[in-house]
Amino acid sequence: MTDGRTRFPPINPRCPHLLHGGDYNPEQWLDSPGVIDEDFRMMKLAGANCMTVGVFSWVSLEPREGEFTFSWLDDIMDRLAKAGMFAVLATPSGARPAWMSQKYPEVLRVREDRLRNLHGLRHNHCFTSPVYREKCRIINTKLAERYKDHPALLLWHVSNECSGQCHCELCQQAFRTWLRQRYGDSLDAMNKAWWTAFWSRTFTSWDQIESPSSRGERALPGLNLDWRRFVVHQTVDFLGAEIAPLKAITPGVPVTTNLMGAHPCMDYWKFAPALDVISNDNYPAWHGRGDNLPVAAQVGFVHDLMRSLKGGRPFMLMETTPSIVNWQEVAKLKRPGMHRLASLQAVAHGGDTVLYFQWRKGRGGSEQFHGAVVDHVGHEHTRVFRDVVEVGETLSKLDDLVGTTTPVEAAILMDWENRWALDDSECVQKKKGYFETCLEHHRAFWSMGIATDVIDQDADFTKYRLLVAPMLFMVRKGVGERIEQFVAAGGTFVATYMTGQVDDSTLCFLGGFPGPLRKVLGIWAEETDGLYDFDANSIVPQPSNALGLDKTYQAGEICDLIHAEAATVVATYGGDFYAGRPVVTVNTLGKGQGWYIAARSEYAFLADFYARLAQQLGLHRVLEADLPEGVSAHLRTDGQREFVFLLNFAAADRTVRLGTARYRDVLTGRPVKGRLVLGRYGSAVLERKA
Ligand code: GLA
Ligand code: ZN
Repeated sequence: MTDGRTRFPPINPRCPHLLHGGDYNPEQWLDSPGVIDEDFRMMKLAGANCMTVGVFSWVSLEPREGEFTFSWLDDIMDRLAKAGMFAVLATPSGARPAWMSQKYPEVLRVREDRLRNLHGLRHNHCFTSPVYREKCRIINTKLAERYKDHPALLLWHVSNECSGQCHCELCQQAFRTWLRQRYGDSLDAMNKAWWTAFWSRTFTSWDQIESPSSRGERALPGLNLDWRRFVVHQTVDFLGAEIAPLKAITPGVPVTTNLMGAHPCMDYWKFAPALDVISNDNYPAWHGRGDNLPVAAQVGFVHDLMRSLKGGRPFMLMETTPSIVNWQEVAKLKRPGMHRLASLQAVAHGGDTVLYFQWRKGRGGSEQFHGAVVDHVGHEHTRVFRDVVEVGETLSKLDDLVGTTTPVEAAILMDWENRWALDDSECVQKKKGYFETCLEHHRAFWSMGIATDVIDQDADFTKYRLLVAPMLFMVRKGVGERIEQFVAAGGTFVATYMTGQVDDSTLCFLGGFPGPLRKVLGIWAEETDGLYDFDANSIVPQPSNALGLDKTYQAGEICDLIHAEAATVVATYGGDFYAGRPVVTVNTLGKGQGWYIAARSEYAFLADFYARLAQQLGLHRVLEADLPEGVSAHLRTDGQREFVFLLNFAAADRTVRLGTARYRDVLTGRPVKGRLVLGRYGSAVLERKA
């Protein structure tokens, strides 16, 4: 959903094009004559219009404390401007000079076992340390003052992939302060929320509280969850401290930081308000076992999340590799066509950029064999370079896409706090598979060409017609009521096994699961059965059920034993001692419906279930006809025109039925009607009237 808009302005109105470029580290080549000239020559050939500079460059900018060396960066910024290109200018805090760690050990991160790290690697800093924050403030101020009027400056890229935790004494203090605020300065309230009478854990003074540790407390779910919340809070606070001088000096320059998809450690909904534009790093493992479809669907999920984080505003693909990823199990080359396909996939889901890590391969360092646009051979006559040129040419024809939006009627709810609570909870199965379950539900829509947002439970549900919330184990305050209102007003809500068991503090709901969702779902979940992987049950649809389901499906792993209270039974279990008891139910509340899927199932069930539900609700699909297996379809619009992306992730030709609409192929200009054949990893962008 797009907050009522059909088009957003470009990321920075100074560049009304899709951005193409990548991480550029010229500081590694300053003493190699000719390399930088060659870079700029080849950037033109590649159709690059921007470069991300300054990531991890601290020691090249401040080799000794208080001594600044900007001349090399001045030169790069000037060259970019001269070439008509732009800079995504990074603050360097993702890695820092050794002099700083040596002089101020407090900047170094402390592990959960309370051992302070040595200097080294990157992302090895304390987010609380006043010294580190001050050093960041100084360098960021210098950068902003120096380049505030520079014609190349397009965007600030703050730090890099903020992640990890620090357990130092400064962080412990900050955690205690945060807890006092959360619990209104009441130890009693905190003790109750954490259920500390269990195992004699009641805290009688704030300074007794410590972050979770393998050497100490690690089995207090309320503490674990609050610590994770605090880590996110502190990280965002640190980002805010980095952003403050940039905003003060360059209020008109947008700010981003590169996120890491649906990374388990951070709650990106808390990052979004601090950023002007969302950007993401994306390193899918293409060409693995089987086909590319699960990978493609997962990437689609992440792109949808990125688009959703700021209410439908186009996001940036900040990093992806033009060829291989050197840190994965296997560094498999992208097969011909895949680079263009994966690049267009980002645009199809609402991305306005395709940027790489990185422009040129380094000679040394642990990433010397990571894919890059320019290889060690040093010229443009490589397969990868040609792939990049092709993407550059493609993007240059898609100016009309900039800022366009994706109309969405359905949302998948994937909530980080819920994920942490589930992962931490000792029940039913060691591995809960929450994220994977969200992916499977999303994939059912992805394969039908129905756009979905990916939201959390604090989102505004009223924008949608269908809300799918797999395994919503934790239901935060007020959310049950909001879902009830959503359904009463005509919305359709789908929940599954393991729903409505704990509150914000991980305390179980009393009086029957699914707690605050019991009324909307019209069921009581009495018990939950964890099955071994060699166990199986089945889902048997009732004769003439509401969705017309008529096949039997496999179920397993997690099975809720439920009672249909107000709900109607749509399918029952086929086996075990609970054979005949409800496994799929639907409840009517006001003008809407609440569905419950009580067991984990094979994917075929979800595909059929959502196909029929979507049909019943009349959800819009990009194309009316079913898509061939392996093809995904996406739509962006400016209100007048619709841009339809057809992406073939199958390793064979696919024929797509276009229906009766008349199309124009945006890339070739040719009219298209009726059918379109997409080759292996083929992709097309078509335009039709809205
Ligand atoms: C991350 C980092 C980059 C680089 C790439 C390599 O995304 O941000 O600096 O290390 O991974 O894949
Ligand atoms: Zn710390």
